[in-house]
Amino acid sequence: MDLSIFMGKIYNFQLPKRIVFGTGSSSMVGLEAKALGGNRILLITDENLRSSGLIKNVEKNLLSEGLSIDIFSDIRAEPSLEDAERVAEKTRGGGYDLIVGIGGGSVLDMAKVASIASTNRKPMRQYIGVNLVVKPGLPKILMPTTAGTGSEVTHVAVITLLDEEAKSAIISPYLFSDESIVDPKLTYSMPPRVTASTGLDALSHAFEALMAVSANPITDTLALQSIEIIFKYLSRAYRSGDEESRFGMSLGALMAGMAFINSWVCLGHALAYSFSVTYRVPHGLSCGLSLPYAFKFNAPAIRHKLPQIAEKIDASYRENVKSPDDLERFIFNKIMELLDELNAPKRLREIGVSESDLGKIASKVLTFKRLIEKNSRALSEDDAHRLVMDMW
Ligand SMILES: [Fe+2]
Repeated sequence: MDLSIFMGKIYNFQLPKRIVFGTGSSSMVGLEAKALGGNRILLITDENLRSSGLIKNVEKNLLSEGLSIDIFSDIRAEPSLEDAERVAEKTRGGGYDLIVGIGGGSVLDMAKVASIASTNRKPMRQYIGVNLVVKPGLPKILMPTTAGTGSEVTHVAVITLLDEEAKSAIISPYLFSDESIVDPKLTYSMPPRVTASTGLDALSHAFEALMAVSANPITDTLALQSIEIIFKYLSRAYRSGDEESRFGMSLGALMAGMAFINSWVCLGHALAYSFSVTYRVPHGLSCGLSLPYAFKFNAPAIRHKLPQIAEKIDASYRENVKSPDDLERFIFNKIMELLDELNAPKRLREIGVSESDLGKIASKVLTFKRLIEKNSRALSEDDAHRLVMDMW
């Protein structure tokens, strides 16, 4: 790693207070909840998980420590502002002292909302933005049941604004968990399509962390390692979902989350957000579709990182790569091959976008200023149009 490129800047690095990782670690939740001072717990999950053995085990574990539990499971995927308000209402009336979130990214994001809603009592819309949450919330434990969103280690709650056909977020250090318990066992029952989608989200987090202007030696190390793990295990987790590939994907997604929350995501997520709500494409699949094009656009700005990325994808890459252009093509093609293996969409036309919609999508990309500003290469209006056309 050439450190000279990182000199002359000041970097931040922040994470949840504690991360517990390992197969079987979810059985620690009762003890951990007690250690955080929990007595009356609001357990947040979704309808599908609610009746599963997985939630029953966690419930049993919490009850065995003498804790009382209320369950809230009315959470939809890609939650809207209205969903966030319902979670807030539930929390405010309950007298809870600890939040436990178990589920995918949407559930974990709503557990963060529950935590701050108890102490910040204005309508949730007023907290959308950066650092607008006034007070710390209830302590919270986050336990992911997918491997990809990284929500367990971020201080972001993504909220869909249905009337604006867009996504926004509450971003505040008060959203960081007090403890994240990452147990690969909780991902064993994930269906193949969710495995593919969330895994592609994780891969996008890792690549975009490398492509963002705030990338630093710590985030690059985490991102590169997670690229290696994800390329090794994602297809296998999708096909067979064996224990080793689940372990790999939980770890890869965790590391990608730790990288991007400190470096940030950029062009790939801006592209994904520009069409995912209108065309109802799950977050991870929209990120996966956008990733190769975002990479191709940014490659000139991260030339020095391309050999490291290629090496992580395939240690014998030098046999196929003779020039810098080859290197860029090699990485682009490897991402495309992975999308093929996962039966994921690679073009906007595959998800129902017609050519006449492209102008609207390109204009929308530029509205995600916070993400575009983080991109290592400036994006003009013409660039956005060319990119979207290329994606089509
Ligand atoms: Fe994401």
